[in-house]
Amino acid sequence: MTKWISRRKFGQLLGAAAGAAALPGVPKAAIVQAEPEITSAPRRFPEGFLWGSATASYQVEGAVHEDGRGPSIWDTFSHTPGKTHDGDTGDVADDHYHRYKEDIGLMSDLGLTTYRFSIAWSRIFPEGVGTRNPKGFDFYDRMLDTLLEAKITPYCTLYHWDLPQALQDKGGWQSRDTAKTFADYAGVVAEHLSDRVRYFMTVNELRTYVNAGYESGVHAPGLMLDRKGLAQVAHYAVLGHGLAVEAIRAHAKPGTKVGFADNPQAATPVIETPEHIAAAERAMREENAMYSNVIFEGRYTDAYLKKLGPDAPHFTQEEMKTIGSPLDFLGLNVYTGDFVRADESSPVGYAMVKRPASSPHMYSDWLFVAPEALYWAPKITAKIWKLKEIYITENGCSSADVLTQDGHVYDSDRIMYLRNYMTQLHRVVSEGVPVKGYFLWSLLDNFEWADGYLKRFGITYVDFKTQKRTPKLSSGYYKEVIRRNGLV
Ligand code: BG6
Repeated sequence: MTKWISRRKFGQLLGAAAGAAALPGVPKAAIVQAEPEITSAPRRFPEGFLWGSATASYQVEGAVHEDGRGPSIWDTFSHTPGKTHDGDTGDVADDHYHRYKEDIGLMSDLGLTTYRFSIAWSRIFPEGVGTRNPKGFDFYDRMLDTLLEAKITPYCTLYHWDLPQALQDKGGWQSRDTAKTFADYAGVVAEHLSDRVRYFMTVNELRTYVNAGYESGVHAPGLMLDRKGLAQVAHYAVLGHGLAVEAIRAHAKPGTKVGFADNPQAATPVIETPEHIAAAERAMREENAMYSNVIFEGRYTDAYLKKLGPDAPHFTQEEMKTIGSPLDFLGLNVYTGDFVRADESSPVGYAMVKRPASSPHMYSDWLFVAPEALYWAPKITAKIWKLKEIYITENGCSSADVLTQDGHVYDSDRIMYLRNYMTQLHRVVSEGVPVKGYFLWSLLDNFEWADGYLKRFGITYVDFKTQKRTPKLSSGYYKEVIRRNGLV
């Protein structure tokens, strides 16, 4: 009953505003004067804050058979029946390989100051190792030159999951050799590109390619290992990162900055009180013991090793030193948060809060709405790992976008999501936490891995039949944020 009354009242008020000019006895001028003034202070970001977008090679490039590119595990996986939605593949994707100029034009229209892209390893080394493909760099050279002409600063990821298939055939990340081979490739790319690229990220989201690729099998290469096997793969993945850091430092031009982009479990205090905040800090270390934490601390936590017992990975002290190589920055991919509460009865001093079934999420089932994560992830990681430079290397969401007949996409839910997350971003930046830039995922709708083309994350709508790009309403929103360097 109450609900009904308040809704009806709301409707009446709306009606009053819309039909204001027709209200008897109310002069039009009075209504104009009654418009509320915007009184809140403009919530600006520091000067020089970078506004970007991110993509990844297999998700946008297409052209999988062109210019000597070798097959990757995602070619194999997506062409295996039943692995992706509707059997979708990245064969064409956004055809960015041929349309990169148009896409950089979209970036310029938005006012982006930076762009994060990834290199397809098998374009440079079709077999992953051995002879370099002379045409391999041509595309990236062309793309980077166009980007720099547009005054957009490139951030380069060396591994966004498209391992050359030839290396998978030799064991993939189950083999220690892959870590070493990755470092060789990273050194070659850094040597070639560091005259134009200053920021390199070794890998993107260790947790995703290890756990989805080797535990649940929902991503390439689609394996389901036991606990011991998985822990060893995770170890080789962080070792690959560490060896790549050393190789980049050895081969890149002086002044090159090295980091990685990770999606740590974004431990978020369920209530912002000292005991829950302390619990979230503990959780950030322990829940990420095998990925970000071992990279920043150069050792596995005691609790992690104890929990694994005989299933703990084999490692040497020399490897741990490599894994813990000092970094210049951390990239955080933050989509959702994991709520944590204090728990004195637990040996680790915290408990993860199970999400009630009513928790709101975006169009992807996993993407629970937790804007506070964009405050707490940088805040906690900066504190516990003593970071001086952080980027939000991915943030964004899927939406059930519809292209209207007259050619618009009114993705109001994406704007709602972005506005809430950016409010938390502003909060953390205002406190002096060293977040230097933000990359929205994604510039374009693209091949969303196992979801194929079903889930759209772009702020630009892509008609995959015609490759026509249509900026969505959220693109207009982001453009305004960039123009003001502040919240809208
Ligand atoms: C991030 C990845 O985890 O999430 C992106 O780095 C990916 O590559 C994005 O596109 C969305 O994930 P998904 O699995 O829903 O496509």
